[in-house]
Amino acid sequence: MLSIEPLRTSDIEATASLHRKNLRLGLFPKLGRHFLGLYQESFARSPYGIALVARDDDDHVVGALFGTTANAEHYRWVTHNFGSRLALAGCGAMLTRPQVALDFARTRMGRYARGVARHMGVLPSASASAAQPGASRPVSVLSHIVTDATMRRRGVGRRLIEGFANRATARGVHRALLVTEEGGLGTPFFERLGCRLVGQHKSHDGAILREYRLILDEEGAYEDLAGDRRAYTVVHAYPKRLGSASILPERP
Ligand SMILES: CC(C)(COP(=O)(O)OP(=O)(O)OC[C@H]1O[C@@H](n2cnc3c(N)ncnc32)[C@H](O)[C@@H]1OP(=O)(O)O)[C@@H](O)C(=O)NCCC(=O)NCCS
Repeated sequence: MLSIEPLRTSDIEATASLHRKNLRLGLFPKLGRHFLGLYQESFARSPYGIALVARDDDDHVVGALFGTTANAEHYRWVTHNFGSRLALAGCGAMLTRPQVALDFARTRMGRYARGVARHMGVLPSASASAAQPGASRPVSVLSHIVTDATMRRRGVGRRLIEGFANRATARGVHRALLVTEEGGLGTPFFERLGCRLVGQHKSHDGAILREYRLILDEEGAYEDLAGDRRAYTVVHAYPKRLGSASILPERP
């Protein structure tokens, strides 16, 4: 029987390999397994991270999921606690991958340098500049989900999402954002699970990205608008995804 459990250190070789083979979007998969392993470990260790694996009967890892309950807080924590190790691993990987280093310099170096400067207090922090009324709710993000290619369409991905939903709602999170490439395997999967398309933009590498909202429980179906709440159609993503949709009344 399939089980969904928190990532263990001994799983990382398998999960980094799954990530590198199946999730090609962005810079990180190009930096190799060592970098990816550290990156994944940061989700498992962060108080704002969720890192799960799916195991089959033989205890083999057949899927993995990484997400955050509060994205900005998570990355602040990671910068502080994993920043130097990730930077070393990333630079080491780029020494033997000149094309990746060039792409990094062209598309991301300025942004990363600003992030480090903010972290060191040279620039004002993003949280300070975003400290306006109504802008303070943490944003949960489902960062990556991947299942073994030989195990697709058997419910492994759905079980990982349920595991994420259970753990995130237990920490007071009601909805999450996720980004996936248009035309990729994520699009039909997330739409099948009832995710709501909320935006579309181009990545640094020119790929078209779709942004979806994942409703984790009924509370998550409400939208805050200038401090007031507006009713939304509840899409029962799981476990009652196929139940009839209902309209919740306006709340005071
Ligand atoms: C996306 C991914 C995680 C889905 O995993 P999975 O284990 O195949 O998903 P499930 O079997 O749990 O599928 C859940 C539902 O989505 C549907 N679904 C999954 N992939 C689908 C596809 N490519 N086309 C149509 N429907 C699909 C399933 O049929 C199932 O519906 P059902 O329960 O009504 O039958 C997997 O394809 C994958 O690892 N892709 C590569 C990595 C990736 O693109 N990740 C997403 C971006 S972060």
